[in-house]
Amino acid sequence: MTHKLNIAIIISSTRETRFADKPAAWIKSIADARGDIAAEVVDLRDYPMPFFEEVAGPAYAPTSNPVARAWREKLGGFDGYLIVTAEYNHSPTGVLSNALDYLGAEVARKPVAFVGYGGVGGARAVEQLRQIAVELQMAPTRAAVHIAGADFLGVWQQGKSFDDLPHLLPSAKATLDDLAWWATALKSAREADAQALAA
Ligand SMILES: Cc1cc2nc3c(=O)[nH]c(=O)nc-3n(C[C@H](O)[C@H](O)[C@H](O)COP(=O)(O)O)c2cc1C
Repeated sequence: MTHKLNIAIIISSTRETRFADKPAAWIKSIADARGDIAAEVVDLRDYPMPFFEEVAGPAYAPTSNPVARAWREKLGGFDGYLIVTAEYNHSPTGVLSNALDYLGAEVARKPVAFVGYGGVGGARAVEQLRQIAVELQMAPTRAAVHIAGADFLGVWQQGKSFDDLPHLLPSAKATLDDLAWWATALKSAREADAQALAA
């Protein structure tokens, strides 16, 4: 591969004492070791957007808030996304859901994969995020990482590290493989569309 795929690793929790940094650093280290992905952490703490209160959705009206505009511009520079998601009340976090409401064309026809954590590995949040992704015209991958049960509690509260959880590596590889495949395929398809439009 001549060019690496630009992939954003989005951190979905902004709490001061969040767990999110640990799984984000873990999956980034695995992505960095592959050679086909240039991964960058995008932290919602750096984009403190107000609750969505625009005159219309992003497809119909330009975003007026400068932080939200910066968030949209930042995400537009990536070939795909890996959302590291907590689960709050069986849902994605409010801060992530709000941030996604601001998005439009800059993420359309691009893939998104998930690393979930929590009692059941963030599975319920991930399922909801897949539905949101479809409405954003993104391509959510089938493969995902779920850091669940004793694995989650071990790293969260019992002093374990991800080095103690090698059984998660196959799902991390499958998720990144899936994301890279779709990112390559959709990048090529978007470029073909742009060339056809220019002709
Ligand atoms: C408001 C709130 C709701 C939560 N609801 C769930 C839940 O539905 N399922 C779950 O597995 N964990 C739930 N938890 C526990 C989280 O998994 C745990 O606090 C985790 O550390 C949150 O991620 P963060 O530290 O990165 O913010 C909840 C935590 C909070 C603060």
